[in-house]
Amino acid sequence: MANDTSALPEDPFSPPPDSALWRRDFLLGAATAAYQIEGAVNEDGRLPSIWDTFSATPGKVLAGDTGAVACDHYHRWERDLDMLSALNVDAYRLSIAWPRVMDEAGRPNPKGLDFYKRLLGRLKEKGLKTFVTLYHWDLPQHLEDRGGWLNRDIVYRFADYADLMSRELAGQVDAWATLNEPWCSAYLGYGNGHHAPGLADGRFATQAMHHLLLAHGSALPVILDPLLKGAYPDDLFELWPGTEPLVLDGDMQTIAAPLDFLGINYYFRTNVMSDGAHGFIDVPLPDVERTQMGWEVYPDGLRDLLIGFNRTYTNLPPVYITENGMASDDKVIDGRVDDPQRIAFLKRHLEAVDAALKAGVDIRGYFVWSLMDNFEWAFGYERRFGVVHVDYGTQKRTFKRSAELIATFLAGRNAPS
Ligand code: GCO
Repeated sequence: MANDTSALPEDPFSPPPDSALWRRDFLLGAATAAYQIEGAVNEDGRLPSIWDTFSATPGKVLAGDTGAVACDHYHRWERDLDMLSALNVDAYRLSIAWPRVMDEAGRPNPKGLDFYKRLLGRLKEKGLKTFVTLYHWDLPQHLEDRGGWLNRDIVYRFADYADLMSRELAGQVDAWATLNEPWCSAYLGYGNGHHAPGLADGRFATQAMHHLLLAHGSALPVILDPLLKGAYPDDLFELWPGTEPLVLDGDMQTIAAPLDFLGINYYFRTNVMSDGAHGFIDVPLPDVERTQMGWEVYPDGLRDLLIGFNRTYTNLPPVYITENGMASDDKVIDGRVDDPQRIAFLKRHLEAVDAALKAGVDIRGYFVWSLMDNFEWAFGYERRFGVVHVDYGTQKRTFKRSAELIATFLAGRNAPS
């Protein structure tokens, strides 16, 4: 097939010779999350999650989309892993669906566990590093029915779940992460109701936040001031006065358990001004480049965040960029998917990572969000974040041009010299 690339920007994965991205020990990977790709929500003993309930509630998700089928990855995982191999990436970041692997009494569900064992086993055979997130927002509904992240009991349930996974999947996981973006779970899930379980109360948000952090710390005798400083920032509760969570003796020490690495997900910046009291107002900047989500494209923010963290927290552990990417309205035309905005986006953000590396930040890897188009939470299937296009009618996968370029760069970088 003749590829006319003349209209596309320069290959984004040919960084300059002195770039750290050429180092083979700098991991380049792709990321996904269970509820966004797996489907098969009623199979092999999987229990309902808060996202099944939320997405089935009219008006909560764009176009009434749900994760019931998603990318059907639960059935197509072998071919999807072949796709990862064809992408030549070094690592894969995925999440475990808690409702698949434990029953209501907290007993292991062998069929659900078996799915992840086979998946992780195959990844190892392929030589990929495995980054596993325990909680990417799909709380078992039966736990939400008992208060979810508002009930302190969840901390012990999560620790049990983490313990079970670390024993069952021992040796199959290179890096464990406890929580994906706990701010979203607390503030979008319990503060403004844009995400499951859809509750909206400032006090709920902070209590959920505290329990999420405590769950993390309890699961990790092994997010961000509290993790690195062992205290909440002074102004955190000013936005919603009276929302201080119930903090028991010893909680902050548990939360600040030492981290092996910190995963940072970066998408965009928000421009705000004070509302004159304790809150702030969004002031969208005019005339800036935006993605299909309406998010500003601002690579310098990633560089500044990394360098700023390194200055603020003297004990900053090694960092992985666990998500970065963008949505565009990608279409298959004559068997090809051209995504020039994503190509330029990835190029510029990788340059930002390289600049932070050169400034001395200990960054060990970068994961593109996402391997393939998937269920984008409250925005359903309309927003396409993948480097691989998914036709949801046929489940056909097609490499976008960005994926072809990633594959070509990595094939060159990893070739025996
Ligand atoms: C998130 C999640 C991903 C999203 C991605 C794009 O942090 O929001 O980790 O599941 O799909 O960030 O919004």
